[in-house]
Amino acid sequence: MKHGLFITFEGADGCGKTTQIKLFTEYLQKNGYEVVLTREPGSKGLGENIRKILLDYDGEVSPVCESFLFLADRAQNVDIIVKKNIEKGKIVISDRHIDSTVAYQGYGRKLDLEQIKELNNIATSGLKPDLTFVFDIDIETSMQRVGKTKDRMEASGKEFFERVQNGYLEIAKNEPNRVKVINANDTVENINKQVISLFEDLIN
Ligand code: TYD
Repeated sequence: MKHGLFITFEGADGCGKTTQIKLFTEYLQKNGYEVVLTREPGSKGLGENIRKILLDYDGEVSPVCESFLFLADRAQNVDIIVKKNIEKGKIVISDRHIDSTVAYQGYGRKLDLEQIKELNNIATSGLKPDLTFVFDIDIETSMQRVGKTKDRMEASGKEFFERVQNGYLEIAKNEPNRVKVINANDTVENINKQVISLFEDLIN
């Protein structure tokens, strides 16, 4: 591949993204692709510090402030990691990206969706993932997986997460070519097969 690919994994907390990213990365590497993994919030260096502020701070946080911090981390991730590695022909996988801000801050915190999209555009200078997986999990399972020790975002309550879930499905409806919804209540093996098959559809 001359130009690499940018693939993102999205979904509510506890949807099983991390396991699937690991399996998909193994598959890609076995097939000779060079893979670079990153995540939001908290790509290398400065991003780690922004992540700590976002998840560990336990005082009141304005939703707009929260959005800007996620967006600041995103700009850093795109400029420092994503773009450079795509240009080198690698497959860059990001654990969360633009759709998290639309789902969590837009639908979840009820901020203006058009403004969030515009801000996303500024943070990424218009770069969009080639493929995005949204893992659709039922809220009860998601809540159980997150357990009792919650970070600041996870402590936002059931109704918040219902809005986030619904937000992800709306995003997928609006951009069906890029965003693929996967039933995350299925087995790990079946989900992995679906991810691989959708990736193969993209490259073939
Ligand atoms: P993390 O521990 O990475 O969660 P997960 O393993 O579920 O990805 O925490 C990231 C949290 O931040 C998660 O609750 C989603 C939230 N988030 C937003 O609210 N907006 C964003 O733009 C991003 C990137 C994440």
